[in-house]
Amino acid sequence: MTTPAIDSTDADGTADTAGPAGVGMPPEAPEALRPHAEDAFAEELKALAAADDRPRPARWRLSPWAVATYLLGGTLPDGTVITPKYVGPRRIVEVAVTTLATDRALLLLGVPGTAKTWVSEHLAAAVSGDSTLLVQGTAGTPEEAIRYGWNYAQLLAHGPSREALVPSPVMRAMAEGMTARVEELTRIPADVQDTLITILSEKTLPIPELGQECQAVSGFNLIATANDRDRGVNDLSSALRRRFNTVVLPLPATPEDEVDIVSRRVEQLGRSLDLPGGAEAVDEIRRVVTVFRELRSGVTEDGRTKLKSPSGTLSTAEAISVVTGGLALASHFGDGVLRPGDVAAGILGAVVRDPAADRVIWQEYLETVVRERDGWKDFYRACREVTA
Ligand SMILES: Nc1ncnc2c1ncn2[C@@H]1O[C@H](COP(=O)(O)OP(=O)(O)O)[C@@H](O)[C@H]1O
Ligand SMILES: [Mg+2]
Repeated sequence: MTTPAIDSTDADGTADTAGPAGVGMPPEAPEALRPHAEDAFAEELKALAAADDRPRPARWRLSPWAVATYLLGGTLPDGTVITPKYVGPRRIVEVAVTTLATDRALLLLGVPGTAKTWVSEHLAAAVSGDSTLLVQGTAGTPEEAIRYGWNYAQLLAHGPSREALVPSPVMRAMAEGMTARVEELTRIPADVQDTLITILSEKTLPIPELGQECQAVSGFNLIATANDRDRGVNDLSSALRRRFNTVVLPLPATPEDEVDIVSRRVEQLGRSLDLPGGAEAVDEIRRVVTVFRELRSGVTEDGRTKLKSPSGTLSTAEAISVVTGGLALASHFGDGVLRPGDVAAGILGAVVRDPAADRVIWQEYLETVVRERDGWKDFYRACREVTA
């Protein structure tokens, strides 16, 4: 690659010879707003690799056992604590990791907010040490995003050649024996999806323009995620589905699990946003989770009152952002302690997606459930204030 010849002199007229990052930048690279999993958890991955004496599949950084431990958490013989990234059934993680060591690709399926993207990123980080070989699926994803494109300047100057070819993340993963990721596979038009069939069954990517091919090196595999609710938008063809092992990620089984997930993530996010710790926030977190679970399932926790469910998904991920938003409010405009007034607006925003129908459902819930509940007076008042 060549650097374009703009900005070659500095403001004071000296030539910029230090390269794009050399001038006007702090000596150390600034901290990324959201580091990749392999960077954020580099210490844990290093400790796991050191403690890991089990066999590793070709080009894997860790053994399947160590990858599962990285995801589920645990304590190593030397005392290093591995934080849990995924809270859920152990078996799901074991099947997912094992799949990646076979010749079948992994499809993570589930409703929004069940940690499909999150698990996919951490799997790629633990298996290949790189979670960035990523294709984001949309209705407009072209075949080039999965195969390769061309650098037109090079193509015009030198004709089709390996130098003019711009490999996709999938092609790079094939060539280097790494884990590729495809997000939201079922949003990609069906004919473009089918590009993956040859890649996954023959483990090769033909390059007819050059009369060549790119053969996958061992270690290559692919993780795709797909949303349950997109079913029917662009269904996976049966030919493609056969190349995948499907693992369904469930919603958190119990309120305790969900409170645990939200608390952990809020704690992590809070640290990177310099917000106060979420430790005293656990009562409020429990309340947000209760409201979300009750409205999602259409029945109160004691099973006595049936409720209507609003149109939003009210996912764990949304609960996390409601609480994080509340903590930000509390720290900038309150005394730093999360109170009902800090989460009420966020909850309302998550519940009332359709301004007519959802609002009625929310008001009914407020008056019949929230109002009557012991210890929920402040919360009721805060909700009334933002709902009015
Ligand atoms: N079971 C779970 N264990 C750990 N984190 C979870 C779980 N479910 C949801 N999350 C959290 O929810 C957030 C959003 O998940 P994401 O991967 O974007 O969902 P999806 O891709 O399924 O829509 C992540 O920050 C993740 O930490
Ligand atoms: Mg996702």
